[in-house]
Amino acid sequence: MSRGKTGGKVYIETYGCQMNVNDSEVMLSILQDEGYVRTEEIGEADVILANTCSIRDNAEQRIWGRIEQFRLQKKNRDNVIIGITGCMAERLKDRLLDNHVVDIVAGPDSYRDLPRMLKAVTPDSPQINVLLSHEETYADITPVRMDKNGVSAFISIMRGCNNVCSYCVVPYTRGAERSRDPKTIIREAEDLFSRGYKEVCLLGQNVDSYFWKDPDTADNDMNFAQLLEAVAKISPEFRVRFSTSHPKDISDEVIYTMAMYDNICSHIHLPVQSGSNAMLEKMRRKYTREWYLERVRKIRSVIPDCGITTDVIAGFCGETEEDHRDTLSLMEEVGFDSAFMFQYSERPGTLAARKYPDDVPEEVKTRRLNEIIALQNRLSLESNRKEIGKVHRVLIEGTSKRNSGELFGRAGNNKVCVFPAEGHKTGEYVDVEVLSCTSATLISRLCSTGKVSGKE
Ligand code: 5AD
Ligand code: SF4
Repeated sequence: MSRGKTGGKVYIETYGCQMNVNDSEVMLSILQDEGYVRTEEIGEADVILANTCSIRDNAEQRIWGRIEQFRLQKKNRDNVIIGITGCMAERLKDRLLDNHVVDIVAGPDSYRDLPRMLKAVTPDSPQINVLLSHEETYADITPVRMDKNGVSAFISIMRGCNNVCSYCVVPYTRGAERSRDPKTIIREAEDLFSRGYKEVCLLGQNVDSYFWKDPDTADNDMNFAQLLEAVAKISPEFRVRFSTSHPKDISDEVIYTMAMYDNICSHIHLPVQSGSNAMLEKMRRKYTREWYLERVRKIRSVIPDCGITTDVIAGFCGETEEDHRDTLSLMEEVGFDSAFMFQYSERPGTLAARKYPDDVPEEVKTRRLNEIIALQNRLSLESNRKEIGKVHRVLIEGTSKRNSGELFGRAGNNKVCVFPAEGHKTGEYVDVEVLSCTSATLISRLCSTGKVSGKE
């Protein structure tokens, strides 16, 4: 493809969170409308896009490595266009152009402008659009699904973030929070269901602060609990998940709505970050350890079998051994089903970077993280052992990687079950009984008569 023309083959690779995966699907939709076709072969692409993440320094370092590899692509085919999109584009802006590999820099709110940038770009005039918007939600764009299973899809319900957690770069890379028109969300979910999808996950940085203020009538205003209910009502055969919840915002209304509908999955991802009140205050999380534990008690009193997962950061600024032990004891007290665990990585421009020295030595951070991981492995195993003998309704997502005669899928509580296929296939719901487990998987068998344990 020669520069300045429309159409051609586009290769997209995605880093970071599910929001980014969804954004790649939005980009593909916009580009397909302009005559581009997707390729999974980087070597035959006219346009290479890397949709990037800035959350920790190692995420960015990986992408710098990739950019060096893109340089080789360019050596062989000097017409190929390299675009960096997403959070790293927003954070680094024109600094990404310095090495003369990148042609296009597009921040998370500028994807509608990609076709124009692709037309305008030349070797001497790279294109950059990193304007953040207060309105853009890509509400009218139907993402082109890149997932392979055709069973479970993500729907973005809001963009940006208004929490200023002191360690976090997201408010700077994705801008202010804005909620998407619920009509377009429900339409997208209905469309997925009619195309055979069986599950959606509603995505936002902080779903509990979803709020749609209708421009015409207050009767049509909608909060997150109401949105969840509206999506759950599409069909009892259509499961609903959501992520991420913020401990300061998750409401009783959301918890009761979850309990009311069998097809709203009993799983809440509730990032705690730390078990120490001093750290939580410095992180600007706006809740205490006690508040967090109360929310967990509330969830479990209404939905006893609810899966609760979390994110933890080890070695935040000024963290003492006592703070660290508070994190371990909170994890133990809650007994999380699983967790994403990270070492603190200072991000330029954040409040923490400006205010607090990153003073926990690297080896101490690593040791604390390892202790957190070891504890979570034990907790995950203990939590999975409690599942033995229980029956779960599972949505089959695919064939097990280890054994082609086995299938896997998730129970409502988000735990992965593996079981013999026995003629079943991806996209079906089956009931399985848990026979044994590892810390990551429930080894199960199909059962037809069993009563599903708890609310799925
Ligand atoms: N360093 C380490 N982990 C971080 N996270 C966010 N910012 C940082 C950072 N600067 C983690 C948090 C968040 C998850 C998505 O990434 O745990 O919940
Ligand atoms: Fe997602 Fe945050 Fe990474 Fe951006 S920085 S891609 S919002 S995880």
